[in-house]
Amino acid sequence: MVLSVSLALSLRLALLSALRVRAVDPIIRPASNHSCFSACSLLAERFPSQVHSSGTPLYAAFEGSFWSLQQAETPPYCVFRPESAPEVSAAIRTARQTQCLFAVRSGGHAAFSGASNAPNGLTIDLRGLNEVALSDDNTIAHIGTGNTWYEVYSTLQPSNLAVIGGRVAAIGVGGLTTGGGISFFSNLHGWACDNVQNYEVVTASGDILQVNISSCPDLYYALRGGGPNFGIVTRFDLFTYPLPQGLMWGGTLAYLMNYSSSILAAFTDFGMNVQSDPNAALIVAYAYYGGQYLASVDLEYAKPSADPTIFNSFKAIPWLQDSTGIKTLANITLEFNASNPSGLRETYWTATYQLNYTMASYIIDIFIEETNPVANATGILPACVLQVITTDQLSQMSKYGGNALGLSSTQPLILLNLAYMWENVEDDKRIIQACQNIIKRTVAKSREWGLAEDYLYMNYASQFQDVVPSYGKENHEKLLDVARKYDPEGVFQKLQPGYFKLNRNPKSSR
Ligand SMILES: Cc1cc2nc3c(=O)[nH]c(=O)nc-3n(C[C@H](O)[C@H](O)[C@H](O)COP(=O)(O)OP(=O)(O)OC[C@H]3O[C@@H](n4cnc5c(N)ncnc54)[C@H](O)[C@@H]3O)c2cc1C
Ligand SMILES: *[C@@H]1O[C@H](CO)[C@@H](O)[C@H](O)[C@H]1NC(C)=O
Ligand SMILES: *[C@@H]1O[C@H](CO)[C@@H](O)[C@H](O)[C@H]1NC(C)=O
Ligand SMILES: *[C@@H]1O[C@H](CO)[C@@H](O)[C@H](O)[C@H]1NC(C)=O
Ligand SMILES: *[C@@H]1O[C@H](CO)[C@@H](O)[C@H](O)[C@H]1NC(C)=O
Ligand SMILES: *[C@@H]1O[C@H](CO)[C@@H](O)[C@H](O)[C@H]1NC(C)=O
Ligand SMILES: *[C@@H]1O[C@H](CO)[C@@H](O)[C@H](O)[C@H]1NC(C)=O
Ligand SMILES: *[C@@H]1O[C@H](CO)[C@@H](O)[C@H](O)[C@H]1NC(C)=O
Repeated sequence: MVLSVSLALSLRLALLSALRVRAVDPIIRPASNHSCFSACSLLAERFPSQVHSSGTPLYAAFEGSFWSLQQAETPPYCVFRPESAPEVSAAIRTARQTQCLFAVRSGGHAAFSGASNAPNGLTIDLRGLNEVALSDDNTIAHIGTGNTWYEVYSTLQPSNLAVIGGRVAAIGVGGLTTGGGISFFSNLHGWACDNVQNYEVVTASGDILQVNISSCPDLYYALRGGGPNFGIVTRFDLFTYPLPQGLMWGGTLAYLMNYSSSILAAFTDFGMNVQSDPNAALIVAYAYYGGQYLASVDLEYAKPSADPTIFNSFKAIPWLQDSTGIKTLANITLEFNASNPSGLRETYWTATYQLNYTMASYIIDIFIEETNPVANATGILPACVLQVITTDQLSQMSKYGGNALGLSSTQPLILLNLAYMWENVEDDKRIIQACQNIIKRTVAKSREWGLAEDYLYMNYASQFQDVVPSYGKENHEKLLDVARKYDPEGVFQKLQPGYFKLNRNPKSSR
């Protein structure tokens, strides 16, 4: 009997409770650190109920709140939970004064250790910044960075509005939007970072700025994809779009692998032609589960119309399971959330190529070839996810003076996301090696075929990948200039080492 992907994933969920317990194992304790002892004591004096240290229940709950086990396993000296921009400013000033290393956490979905949890350092947990409010004329939603997208969409639903953000309930507003942000509505309106009217930012000096195209065009540009290198965003003012009752159409089709060539042909064709109906969105994923590879295709449509014709070629391929239907945006993000459990070891990797059927097939072949030898790792769920950066998305990137991503292609691109989950630390090395091999081999082939594209998507990149330089020389230099102006001492480069820095990847910084 064939297990469908979703069924397989829900069975998996039942097995995960034991692993979650491991995420809050009190055996792992932070080492002592004089700088961070001072930082935590100073903050605790001013904000006694908002600083949590090892051994307290709130600290343990915090450690258990990360998506990946690798992040949960690198505990901070203390956690500070600011509730306003001035309190975030106090945290930055304190970290500078004491020279304590820090990390900033929004939704906690970055996969690798240290990305949003500072080992032995100060972790600034932004989840208390959870405003969701509409402007008087309903054109702008003021969104605190500590929200998850489920909270955002379900709060806006009664006003018949949506914003451009994540597709999975528990993802944070902060990380997704500062790195780019692909939405179900990106063919209509662009990426999340292209739909921010104004950022409220705490800079390295502790100043609180309103950053928009009129007030600080250079910093506004840099925040559109440059990641956490310029300041801590406390509020995003996002353009709203009508979505009556939150209703749209979407779901997943699962297929056996012998239909792969038809699936990839439909994927390529969709990517070439989706400008004919930009309401449509598509994610194609291949995964190994229960001894076999399966394909699962997510189809979404920005209106509550059943079976839009643009997806006919997918519906025509014999499927195992079809969960498409008219649903709310918030409910679709919950369905996705259920297949992305927390508490496992995780790695994400990325690459970009020109859209081409032969390239897509090659990626899947290499994914299978490199995954087979690691497929015996306990609890492994490897996925190879293909999306198209469409010409509509690319043209939206030049709105409001352009973003920092350096995506200047006029042709559609394939965006690859390798996403592997597994259980045991003993398997880390060979799984990471397999992912690295897939990236190396497919990128080399794309060069040989004239289909190479340098761009690395921050939100899907591994700690070994050099994201910011991949934006191209001109953007990289502009970003360095903006950082020199707003952070002349390099606070975000030196004291916040954990994520993608302007000149180095997270791995090389420790
Ligand atoms: C299950 C799953 C589903 C996903 N779905 C999508 C999707 O639909 N579309 C998409 O584009 N991406 C998606 N991603 C990728 C996602 O965008 C990244 O993992 C992103 O970093 C998550 O943001 P976060 O706030 O949850 O993470 P965090 O780990 O909290 O933050 C990530 C990084 O951003 C920094 N940061 C966070 N908030 C701020 C802030 N306010 N100011 C400055 N720096 C900040 C953190 O310090 C950290 O370095 C998904 C990832 C997962 C695991
Ligand atoms: C302790 O803090 C100092 C200054 O921030 C830093 O250089 C050092 O690496 C920290 N030690 C640990 C174990 O984190
Ligand atoms: C832009 O920033 C300025 C000053 O920093 C602020 O007064 C103004 O309200 C901001 N504009 C928007 C649209 O948020
Ligand atoms: C794919 O495999 C299934 C199950 O083995 C079989 O029923 C179907 O006919 C095959 N289709 C093609 C196109 O090979
Ligand atoms: C959304 O989910 C809720 C809770 O499961 C359910 O009651 C509601 O009917 C769903 N709405 C739609 C439109 O699917
Ligand atoms: C999303 O999934 C995570 C991990 O399984 C879970 O802890 C969280 O409650 C879910 N979020 C929502 C809004 O359902
Ligand atoms: C897993 O498979 C690899 C290669 O196929 C093999 O070398 C290794 O011994 C296997 N490991 C386990 C734990 O079975
Ligand atoms: C895809 O790329 C290959 C290699 O460059 C090329 O031979 C082929 O013509 C391309 N396919 C299409 C449809 O452009």
